[in-house]
Amino acid sequence: MNLKGRNIVLGVTGGIAAYKAAELASRLVQSGAQVHVILTAEATRFIGAATFQALTRHPVSESVFADEQDGQIAHIDLADSADLVLIAPATANTIAKLAAGAADNMLSAVALAAKCPVWIAPAMNVNMYRHPAVQANLRTLETYGCHLIGPDQGRLACGWTGRGRMSEPAAILKELEAYFTETDMSRHALDGKNILVTAGPTREALDPIRFFSNRSSGKMGFAIAEAAAQAGASVTLVSGPVALEAPHGVTLIRVTSAEEMRQAVAARFEHTDAVVKAAAVSDYRPEQVSTSKIKKQDGPLLVRMVRNPDILLELGRKKKDQVLVGFAAETEKLEEHAIEKLKKKNVDFLVANDAVHGFGGDTNLVTFFFASGEKQRFEQMTKKSVAAHIVHAVAELLRKREQQ
Ligand code: CTP
Repeated sequence: MNLKGRNIVLGVTGGIAAYKAAELASRLVQSGAQVHVILTAEATRFIGAATFQALTRHPVSESVFADEQDGQIAHIDLADSADLVLIAPATANTIAKLAAGAADNMLSAVALAAKCPVWIAPAMNVNMYRHPAVQANLRTLETYGCHLIGPDQGRLACGWTGRGRMSEPAAILKELEAYFTETDMSRHALDGKNILVTAGPTREALDPIRFFSNRSSGKMGFAIAEAAAQAGASVTLVSGPVALEAPHGVTLIRVTSAEEMRQAVAARFEHTDAVVKAAAVSDYRPEQVSTSKIKKQDGPLLVRMVRNPDILLELGRKKKDQVLVGFAAETEKLEEHAIEKLKKKNVDFLVANDAVHGFGGDTNLVTFFFASGEKQRFEQMTKKSVAAHIVHAVAELLRKREQQ
């Protein structure tokens, strides 16, 4: 249902997986989407325009110039009208062009001009996929806000086995549906609200060159900040050291230690409607920070650690009508520990993360525990989906509070 009437530009590039794009186009059309296909010159060596034209009932674009009619600039019109650009399959070559900002064919020009989300489903030989240049290009595209789907693991057309297969059309469709459901759910939900999000690890210095920290990637907090901004909020993101760029429309404040994070958060708390504390704050820091590099000695080095302030606990004590959201990563007794933290820290809801499922990846297995006693358990989801559900729950709590 949620693909009905959406304008999807489907970019098909020249790989053997291009045949799967026909099934994808067909499924998109059956779900009610308007699909405009762009083929690169290389793609036409694998699959013809006639196939897509028949499936989508729209003309297929192949060249920046061929489609121009009087008063129209086809690539800009197509980019402007799209709700989403999906490039599937995306070859290493097209990925490189997109990462470099090249616009040498219809597809790369549309992707560059598009203001809507750009999704990329890579497909290539496993060794090409693993090459540092391809990986660097994919990371670059992620920092530009592109969303990657797959590739999957399996037998590849070239005879190798490994990661490189284009994700199955059914799986891509499922992700698209989830995406549009979430954007519908949160549109304007946080208009006029000030939201504060924390993300990433903190670093606790031992000497000028060494520190204690943890493996938090910051992805969860950044996804929440992005989702809150998309829902109309004015968002401040306070983050420990991570390799991520500020999401579009978000004010990013970079901090290092727990104490710096505490100060940055405390200074803004009063004028905030909701705080989401996704940061993995170090619970301890070295008691002494050496001003010079600690030289090695014979025998062990003993470092005494002292407790860091619990930022969330402090906010819980200070809060007036702010909505407070905490996180908990648990490896055992998830429910018991989550409810204990919920009460102790006086938060409105706690996102309990099943840490056995793993850390640092792109998906999470979470349950929301609300102060009201309600509980919401989710299937494994991408961090972006978890973020959308958090934003939705925050908006609901703020709405209820306003009605009281
Ligand atoms: N938190 C915080 N300040 C700290 C430690 C944690 O604000 N010094 C916040 C985190 O941002 C998270 C929540 O508290 O939202 C839970 O953190 P977690 O580390 O899971 O729980 P702890 O309370 O530290 O308990 P434990 O380490 O015993 O599991």
